[in-house]
Amino acid sequence: MAGTQLYHDYLQPFRIQKRLTLNQCFKTVQADAGTFDALTYVTFGGLDLYDAMDLVAVFDIRKHKINIVSYEQDRRIAADSRVRPVAATLSRIATVSIEIVPTEFFENSTPLHQLRENTRFVYFLDYTGTFGNRQIDSLSELFSDGLLRDQDYLMITSCISPRIVRQARFMLPYEDTFKLFYGASIVVDQEFKIRNHVDLLVGIALSRFERETLTTGSQPPLYAKLLRKFRYQDTRTPMGLWLYRFERSLIRSAKLEDGSFEEFPQAFAKKEGKEEEIPNIFE
Ligand SMILES: C[S@@+](CC[C@H](N)C(=O)[O-])C[C@H]1O[C@@H](n2cnc3c(N)ncnc32)[C@H](O)[C@@H]1O
Repeated sequence: MAGTQLYHDYLQPFRIQKRLTLNQCFKTVQADAGTFDALTYVTFGGLDLYDAMDLVAVFDIRKHKINIVSYEQDRRIAADSRVRPVAATLSRIATVSIEIVPTEFFENSTPLHQLRENTRFVYFLDYTGTFGNRQIDSLSELFSDGLLRDQDYLMITSCISPRIVRQARFMLPYEDTFKLFYGASIVVDQEFKIRNHVDLLVGIALSRFERETLTTGSQPPLYAKLLRKFRYQDTRTPMGLWLYRFERSLIRSAKLEDGSFEEFPQAFAKKEGKEEEIPNIFE
């Protein structure tokens, strides 16, 4: 079975490393965001909305109004997920709203426009594949439509399966662009591309948006501040998780900095393992 298939067949509650890294990201957002009344969380569904549970385990539903907008491209999963325990139970709480949108993200942007004013947005683009060209088009649209703004947060999942990211062609057309964003002296080897591909693609979407703002002048350009970058591996397939906060950009096309992954379990401090006893079976 291919690595990515193996990963996606693995049930969400059993993805312990993913759950722990997501918990770290939500705690980072909570500490960083300061006081706010309402939060809109935009995510990709799945059957059990497990990440919605991760979210409400960190953000206090007695103190905040929490709107969850969950895009699910599989109509059958979208319909079934509405009556599963997480959606059914959370939607009975007055401070929580859940809208399951049965389309690919974000074919239907109406629910986002309806919630946009007066709430901070946290996006979790929990892609199943490796983050690439097609996804930066969605990001560019979010910026242009004013749906991703100053003081919003963005989490991105990218599959970093060696079968994909160790291929010589991975990010090959972007080698010069890496140098443009990170400085001419950097060495663009495979490891560099793996740990920085999402940062570069987000940077490209932002610089497209910056060009757009120069002509329209309607919105200020944005800068994505990287808050966390995790690598976890619940199956044979390693996954990356990036967390950014957006800010108004003061300098044009800010330079990017090479950033390493916080690795699971090292990011959580590793327990010293006991030496395994090897019985002498030859005497
Ligand atoms: C990675 S999971 C989401 C899991 C959830 N975020 C969690 O942590 O519990 C994958 C689900 O998202 C859906 N999905 C993947 N890509 C999508 C997209 N671009 N738009 C909408 N749904 C998507 C898939 O159909 C699948 O049911």
